Amino acid sequence: MTDLTAFIEGLPKVELHLHIEGSLEPELMFDLAKRNNIDLPFKSVEEVRAAYEFTELQDFLDIYYQGMGVLQTEQDFYDLTDAYLKKIHSQNVIHTEIFFDPQGHTERGVAFETVINGITRALDDGCKNYGISSEVIMCFLRHLSEEDALKTLEEALPFKDRILGVGLDSSELGHPPSKFQRVFAKAKAEGLKLVAHAGEEGPPEYVTEALDLLKIDRLDHGNRSLENEVLTKRLADMGIALTVCPLSNYKLAGVTDMTKHPLKTMLDKNLNATINSDDPAYFGGYMTENYLAVYEALDLSREELETLAENGINASFCSEARKTEMRKQLNSYVSQ
Ligand code: HPA
Ligand code: ZN
Repeated sequence: MTDLTAFIEGLPKVELHLHIEGSLEPELMFDLAKRNNIDLPFKSVEEVRAAYEFTELQDFLDIYYQGMGVLQTEQDFYDLTDAYLKKIHSQNVIHTEIFFDPQGHTERGVAFETVINGITRALDDGCKNYGISSEVIMCFLRHLSEEDALKTLEEALPFKDRILGVGLDSSELGHPPSKFQRVFAKAKAEGLKLVAHAGEEGPPEYVTEALDLLKIDRLDHGNRSLENEVLTKRLADMGIALTVCPLSNYKLAGVTDMTKHPLKTMLDKNLNATINSDDPAYFGGYMTENYLAVYEALDLSREELETLAENGINASFCSEARKTEMRKQLNSYVSQ
C-alpha cells in the first residue's frame, strides 16, 4: 500500500474548529508571562508539557483557563494568532475559522476590544502574508450563566463586522444547550452564524437540543450522536457538518485507542465529518497531525482523505467565491 503521509502534508486543508487560546504553546506562554510580569506555577516548558495529562474535559479546561492568563495586551493576542497562522501555513491550511473565548478574558479585566483587535489584526496580516483566509466565531462559556452570555453578546455587537458567528464551549455536562436558547435566538436575529459543542462528553440529547433549540448551522464534535441511530440518520439527512477533533478526543479520553476513533463509522454512515485540531498546543498536534493520526489508525484511503478535505471546504462559512477557489486548489492538488 502506498504511504499517504506526504499526500496529507501537501493536501490543502480547511480548519473549522480551533480555539485560538488553545494554540498557546508553552514557549510563548513563558515569553508572555515574562513580558507581563506574571508568575507561572511551572519552572520550565518541559514541566508545562508534563502537566498536560488529562483524563476528562474538565482537567484540560482548568489548565487551559490558567494558561490564557498570560494574555493581557493587544500585542499578546496578535502574537498568539500570528504564531498559529505561521504554523498552519507550514501545513498547507488555506482557510481557518477560529473560536475565541471573550469571557475568559473579560472576567480577568482584559477588554473585549483588546482581544478582538489583536486577533483580527493578525488575521488580516495572515491573509496578506500567508494567503490564509479566515473567519472569527465567538464562543460563550457554558459553565457561566445565560445572563453573562447575553451581556457578552451585547458587548460583541459593535464588532459585528468582524465576528461571523457564535458558539458554545467549556464544561458540557450539566450545561445543556437549552440553557442558551434565548442568547442563540438573539444572535440569529443579529444575522450571526450558529455553532455549538455538543456530544463531546454530553449525551446525544444535547445534540438534539443544539439542533432543535439553538438551530445550529454546524455541530462541534458530535461524537456521541452515534449512540442514537435516529439522530445519526437525521444528521446525515440534514448534511450538517460535524467538526471532529481526533487528537482532542484521544487526549480527553473520549477515545481510548485511536483505532477505535468513530471517524470511519461517521463516514460510513454518511455523516458530513471534517478534521480539526481543537486545542493543538494542548493535544499534541495541528491539522496535519490530526489527519495523520486518523489515517494511520483507521487505514483511511486516499479517497476518504480527499472527502474529508472537501467536506472542510463545503462546511466552511466563507463566500461561495472563496469556496470555488479552494475547490479548484484541492482538485488541482489531488489530480497531480
Ligand atoms: N471542549 C469544550 N470547551 C473547550 C474545548 C473543548 O474541546 N477547548 C476549549 N474550550
Ligand atoms: Zn472545541
